Amino acid sequence: MPWRPMTAADLSHAFTLACAIHVDFFEALDVMADKLAAYPAGCLTLETADGSIGGYAVSHPYARGRVPKLNHLLGGLPADADIYYIHDIAIDAAARGQGHAEAAVNLLAAQARSAGFREMRLLSVNNSGAFWRRRGFSPVLDEQVDVSSYGSDATYMRRFL
Ligand SMILES: CC(C)(COP(=O)(O)OP(=O)(O)OC[C@H]1O[C@@H](n2cnc3c(N)ncnc32)[C@H](O)[C@@H]1OP(=O)(O)O)[C@@H](O)C(=O)NCCC(=O)NCCS
Repeated sequence: MPWRPMTAADLSHAFTLACAIHVDFFEALDVMADKLAAYPAGCLTLETADGSIGGYAVSHPYARGRVPKLNHLLGGLPADADIYYIHDIAIDAAARGQGHAEAAVNLLAAQARSAGFREMRLLSVNNSGAFWRRRGFSPVLDEQVDVSSYGSDATYMRRFL
């Protein structure tokens, strides 16, 4: 079940998966499409053997100390992008625990490095903090960021590359 670049044709399937997984964090199809348009190299699709979509990853360059507001268009990449931001990795429940998310983290880290970034950041949600810690991320404690749209357990985390 390999990861491959996300295409525009994947968007409706990835959106359906996102709606099922992120029930508390709705984002419109246009918002995912906007991120794919802004930075296609950061968007991946996990394709199952039968051709269906078992997961997706969305990431892009962004600015230290800011998080994209939930369900808002990015409207392009910030001119002052200085970190690589993982917006979301989501795996269908039936495909979890097989290393797919870890593989996506590694692919996104390679993309970030090749684009010249030395730090990845993300907001962990859905109690995924332990997963990210085991992949080398730790909470950013010394910066105030507005995480209010992402729920009470949202934690701003970083990993140096
Ligand atoms: C968080 C999430 C992406 C993890 O996806 P996943 O594919 O299950 O992750 P992985 O399989 O890579 O890793 C999960 C565990 O399986 C283990 N694993 C890795 N390869 C494995 C294999 N071949 N067989 C069995 N287990 C394996 C990993 O060691 C890992 O355990 P650990 O976290 O205790 O170290 C998934 O739970 C999810 O989609 N959650 C909902 C969306 C979400 O909240 N995303 C995060 C947003 S910030």
